[in-house]
Amino acid sequence: PQAMKIKIGKATASRDVRVTVSGWVHRLRVQGKDMMFVVLRDGTGFLQCVLTGRLCHTYDALTLSTESTIQVFGTIKKVPAGKNAPDGHELIVDYWKVLGKAPSGDDAFTNKLNKDSNPDVLLDNRHLTIRGETASAVLKMRALVLQAFRAFYQSTGVTEVNPPLMVQTQVEGGSTLFSFKYYGEDAYLTQSSQLYLETVLPSIGDAYTISESFRAEKSHTRRHLSQYTHIEGELGFITFDDLLDHLEQMITFVLDYVFADELGKTLMAELNPDFQRPKTPFRRMKYVDAIAWLKEHKITKEDGTSYEFGDDIPEAPERRMTDTIGEPILLTRFPAEIKAFYMKRCGDDKRVTESVDVLMPGVGEIVGGSMRIADHDELIAAYHREGLDPAPYYWYTEQRKFGTCEHGGYGLGLERFLAWLLNRYTVRECCLYPRFMGRCTP
Ligand code: 4AD
Ligand code: MG
Repeated sequence: PQAMKIKIGKATASRDVRVTVSGWVHRLRVQGKDMMFVVLRDGTGFLQCVLTGRLCHTYDALTLSTESTIQVFGTIKKVPAGKNAPDGHELIVDYWKVLGKAPSGDDAFTNKLNKDSNPDVLLDNRHLTIRGETASAVLKMRALVLQAFRAFYQSTGVTEVNPPLMVQTQVEGGSTLFSFKYYGEDAYLTQSSQLYLETVLPSIGDAYTISESFRAEKSHTRRHLSQYTHIEGELGFITFDDLLDHLEQMITFVLDYVFADELGKTLMAELNPDFQRPKTPFRRMKYVDAIAWLKEHKITKEDGTSYEFGDDIPEAPERRMTDTIGEPILLTRFPAEIKAFYMKRCGDDKRVTESVDVLMPGVGEIVGGSMRIADHDELIAAYHREGLDPAPYYWYTEQRKFGTCEHGGYGLGLERFLAWLLNRYTVRECCLYPRFMGRCTP
């Protein structure tokens, strides 16, 4: 009889008709001579397939191993949901065949690689470990979260652009630039698309990009990658408070989107069942108050001295504060000295800037943003203070001559957002093939 070709995700809708499904053998259980249970995986879900009688007696059946690809034919029946029948369906197989064999026994990758394997060995074999339930769930969530961000921008009338990633200017300081030869000229991999986003405001209005950014981070931490996915937005004719509101609305929208989605709900229950949606409005805290908080809690620098106004708050104390407070923090008004040259100063206190970091429990900073200097001469002065030659930035600074506007924006690290949402220990688990110092393979 005819069989309808389906993906496992469509199993519920295909009950009681003859179907065919192709996929990878995720789990295999042999029960006596006449019964085999194969949990099949095709990237859209898992389906338990039941093989009985002569279907279990062939050479292929007797030598079947996990991760082999097979094609099965049969009828989908409703059963009580359980570990093997995750969505409450199983396929009663009437015919099947092997498409591609995988190594078995000691050579099966599940026998060579497990949670206790050396992390470097796991990363060398990431092309195989991404087949695991957790890794694939994280990748699915990543795709859903990207969709959620795009839906947010669409709902607020912000337009997507794709700025160049090979550039000849820096944004976030010279020490983390990756440089390369561009037809014999010096060039860099971009650290941020911010400057380009600023230039499109007069063209397409409020804009965003979801692009890769590159940072030569010469240290190993839980939250630093050499390449990461950067979600950056830039908004014209706004105030600093508008920017803070926008960030809060964006994060709330993305969470609402994920939890309104069936797959999103399922994956959240799997990956981070204890996740608490943050209360709004988010706590807003000034940098000076963070310094005071660290003093009050006797959190000091490594040499035992206390943090003072003007000090950068490094990763460890930042995370301790955020973890202790236990909710999102919009940390604002950082001193100009520790922030980027382009940031606008506060009207009521010129020592500090209209800048914001969004801090999340477990991760710390996931967003960095600010209002930008809108005045041309003030911006040029900021370049000189930074020791930067403004000439190569003519296309950026000239915006201020051709009809300037108050504007601001931010960058959100997607992997850090996911590490927070999915309670992952490191951002390395939140991207496909992580790049960090010492690793550029696979
Ligand atoms: O705070 P950052 O450096 O800000 C900027 O790049 C701005 N130009 C963005 C803008 O205003 N358009 O980086 C923004 C965010 C950080 O908060 C963090 O989430 C992420 O990018 N990030 C990294 N993520 C992973 N690995 C790294 N090495 C990262 N560096 C920054
Ligand atoms: Mg930052």
